[in-house]
Amino acid sequence: MKVKSETMDKSKAKERIDYLVEELKIHNRRYYEFNNPIISDFEFDKMLKELSELEKFVRDDSPTLRVGSDLESNNNSPFEQIPHKNLMLSLANTYNIGELRDFDAKVAKSVVGNYTYNCELKFDGTGINLIYKNGMLVHALTRGDGTIGDDIIRNIKTIKSIPHKLKEGSGYPPEFEIRGEIYMPFEAFDRLNKERELNEDPLFANPRNAASGSLKILDSKIVAKRGLQCVLYHLIAPDLEISEHSKALKAAAEWGLPISEYSKVCDNIDQVIEYINEWDTKRKELPFPTDGVVIKVNQFALQNSLGYTSKTPRWAVAYKFKPEEALTKILSIDYQVGRTGAVTPVANLEPVLLSGTTVKRATLHNAEQMQLLDIHIGDYVYIEKGGEIIPKITSVELKKREPYFSKAIFPTHCPVCKSTLCRDEDEAKFYCPNSDNCPPQIIGKFIHFTSRKALNINVGEIALEQMYNRGYINRFEDLFTISDLALLSLDKWKEKSVSNFHKSLENSKLVPFERVLYALGIKYIGETSAKNLARRFENIDNLAQASRDELIDTEDIGDTIADSLIDYFKSENNQITIAKLKEIGLKFEVDKSIYQSDELKGKTIVISGTYSIPRETMKLYIEAHGGKVSSSISKSTSYLLAGDKAGEEKIKKADRLGIPIISEQEFYAIAYPTSTESNTSNKPEDNTKKNSDTDTHIDIDTENKYNNDTGDTSAESEELTLF
Ligand code: IVH
Repeated sequence: MKVKSETMDKSKAKERIDYLVEELKIHNRRYYEFNNPIISDFEFDKMLKELSELEKFVRDDSPTLRVGSDLESNNNSPFEQIPHKNLMLSLANTYNIGELRDFDAKVAKSVVGNYTYNCELKFDGTGINLIYKNGMLVHALTRGDGTIGDDIIRNIKTIKSIPHKLKEGSGYPPEFEIRGEIYMPFEAFDRLNKERELNEDPLFANPRNAASGSLKILDSKIVAKRGLQCVLYHLIAPDLEISEHSKALKAAAEWGLPISEYSKVCDNIDQVIEYINEWDTKRKELPFPTDGVVIKVNQFALQNSLGYTSKTPRWAVAYKFKPEEALTKILSIDYQVGRTGAVTPVANLEPVLLSGTTVKRATLHNAEQMQLLDIHIGDYVYIEKGGEIIPKITSVELKKREPYFSKAIFPTHCPVCKSTLCRDEDEAKFYCPNSDNCPPQIIGKFIHFTSRKALNINVGEIALEQMYNRGYINRFEDLFTISDLALLSLDKWKEKSVSNFHKSLENSKLVPFERVLYALGIKYIGETSAKNLARRFENIDNLAQASRDELIDTEDIGDTIADSLIDYFKSENNQITIAKLKEIGLKFEVDKSIYQSDELKGKTIVISGTYSIPRETMKLYIEAHGGKVSSSISKSTSYLLAGDKAGEEKIKKADRLGIPIISEQEFYAIAYPTSTESNTSNKPEDNTKKNSDTDTHIDIDTENKYNNDTGDTSAESEELTLF
């Protein structure tokens, strides 16, 4: 809802400004830092516009005055950070042809003489600043905060169209910058997400997030496989004797640089509007994502006289296309029951093409949303891809509604087990309460139990569904006793799959308590809360007997989680499951062979290279002593624990920042300063022996293979599969 500033009193406007500033800061971080936006660009721009209108009271931290930053806010970047020689600015946006004409009128008023516009597609990726010296690519900087960027040259060099060396004798100046966009074509994006789905990695919401997430991966061999592309659109070469932007780009193409083939010089604003209209349709056939058209005054002299605001050039503007939407028919609605019993309405649609992919289903979120849209089966609805992966239904085309269409009614009973649905007071979702006997909930729980971050058991979703439907499994413990004959009767299961399944069952007995706790699938217990609970209560019996106050006293555990835990342990059925799983040999207590202490409390340690024990074990030791493991060096790093073949970059950075670099032996001296006869048996030396048969070779080049690729390189985001 748009709030007009004239209709508000000052204090209300101020309140709204505060709200918008904070909201936009969050969305800015989600977009630039985490590559995980939850609102569409359109919604973001609308909020930004409302904020600029309201800003009678100028605030210097307002997002309307800043370029978003892709740098990690805790200064934890693993890349070298280099200042941009020229600020890396953004563009003013408009969704409105009227405003575009206003822009032209301003240009016409401020310049003397004839001018033209260069119209270009607005590629939907992530900005890059390439620096060439004597024909060689020497730096590739991200936008960062506009003043300093991360040098990601190793990753950029994996993109085939970007020359490491320019064409000899083609007339390039000795030193210049050229800016552009790194983007991911739809085909590469679909391939990547399919692969991630198979590996149970979180999916990227759109190609733009996939492109920027990929560029922040530390292992450039992985980046090379991502199918990234580049287009360059802004040359900064002061020594070059060229007077027009379009000609400068042509020259850059001759030097060997990738320049867009879709740009056009327009003589006036009407031609610009024609170009926009043409591409608003034609872009749907392009194999890569675009989100608008960029209109730039073509003459450098005029660009200079128009100049810049604090954030954007006055000589250019981005006309953004409305988010692509499609109109299609609702054929039916499924009510999907998840593993926690939550029921989600999902519309089955007449297949329709939207932003490069065919859409057959869209979420309706919950009963309230269905009511709000007043959905009828047979309705034509507009669907849109926002920040999320699954498209959403934004509105109904009422003109196309026929009188005989029947209103979609949210069920009162579970569509599968027929139990009466219930809803907690402050929750939007309805739940099926029959958690022990409702088939999709049970199958969902098995999928979670066996998933990589839980027990990592070698079995797919289809096989689990078959096992359940045929009555081979009903409770977690059944997985451990299922016969080979039953396994061999599953679709596509041969001896090899059976033996892999058995091996992974055996390995699941080595999985640490915190992951076993997570695997149980207790409502609201994620990886972090499982870790905190395991650390605090040490074993399942202590946890089951803990009082509500004791639970709430645990890090990051609030009322909702505490109540959920109490409910879970109250159930006799759950108590039986735990007893059976204990008998089978799963770990229900923290590993006491790892000596616990507070010696490293408050210390952040970066590990690099290989040690006499597996790296994963080293991480466990650090955490067991209260320390935190991080994958990148910053001012707040306490030590760089440098093993054999530790990364040179890391050593250099630690040196530069004055961070102590310690050896494995020095680490033990710090972690075990008061070791006595009685606890020496808990020292890692002993575990080294115990662990030697699980020790996997870790190639230092792939030391970051556990990063989750979303650009978040913090230790929390690491996914460690220990066994
Ligand atoms: S010109 C000072 N041209 O869109 C001039 N930008 O929303 C700055 N973009 O920051 C950029 N295609 O990352 C320009 N043909 C194009 C573009 C383009 C995509 C991106 C760029 C920019 C953002 C602004």
